[in-house]
Amino acid sequence: MNQQQTSSTTLAVAGVSKTLGGVKLFTDVSLQLQQGQSLAVIGESGSGKSTLLHLMAGLDRPDTGEVYWAGTAIHTLNTDQISARRLRHVGLVFQAYYLMPHLTAQQNVELPFLLAGEEPNHARCSQLLDQVGMSHKSTSYPREMSGGEQQRVAIARALALNPPLILADEPTGNLDEDNAERVLRVLLDACSAQGCALVMVTHSPKAASHLNHRLNLADHHLAEISKIDNVAAHAANKA
Ligand SMILES: Nc1ncnc2c1ncn2[C@@H]1O[C@H](COP(=O)(O)OP(=O)(O)OP(=O)(O)O)[C@@H](O)[C@H]1O
Ligand SMILES: [Mg+2]
Repeated sequence: MNQQQTSSTTLAVAGVSKTLGGVKLFTDVSLQLQQGQSLAVIGESGSGKSTLLHLMAGLDRPDTGEVYWAGTAIHTLNTDQISARRLRHVGLVFQAYYLMPHLTAQQNVELPFLLAGEEPNHARCSQLLDQVGMSHKSTSYPREMSGGEQQRVAIARALALNPPLILADEPTGNLDEDNAERVLRVLLDACSAQGCALVMVTHSPKAASHLNHRLNLADHHLAEISKIDNVAAHAANKA
């Protein structure tokens, strides 16, 4: 991975460590992602993948080390500044989706525009819903959708403002093979067509194989896995 930080470094993580509930999750994690690059993070359940993604998203602070968005150290920003920047810089797909229950699918996808004080781009949001295969449920509420359907709406919402950085926590976790491929294509298209940088947590070696880089979080460290065979072997060993 390119170690030289430039203005095109969409995300940089430098020497980050985190302990939660007295348990050391990871230490001295460093990585950089340039525009258009994609990174898969794999690792056992409980290894700290979601926690790391939350640090990258500025939702939590590391014990040591720093996170940079396009060269800005986010610890130099206050909470309001981080929220405002996150809205523009980061498209977040949480493991638990977090759709707004009182809004329809279409309204959920349009929400980032309203939060940014902009008129929603209805056509773009409809197109995103179509790309994730959810246009037929655009007027449905989250309670009327399956988990995988909510997941796909959450992905459309994350892409709505065309953010430079997409952080997706197991975005294909609840999807059948066809829909997993569809969602992956939408995310990778955002990298190749719009130059987004993508970090995707996944348990799927197949999904990971489509991304530029693969890192394994194990034994408190994040290490590069160069070959997908190794990812598959890792998954098999843990099964
Ligand atoms: N707020 C918290 N306080 C204490 N411990 C926490 C907290 N949040 C998470 N943990 C613990 O930290 C560990 C890492 O959690 P995390 O959600 O990052 O794992 P993960 O790698 O994403 O797992 P999974 O693959 O199951 O989603 C877990 O053991 C979890 O119980
Ligand atoms: Mg997780």
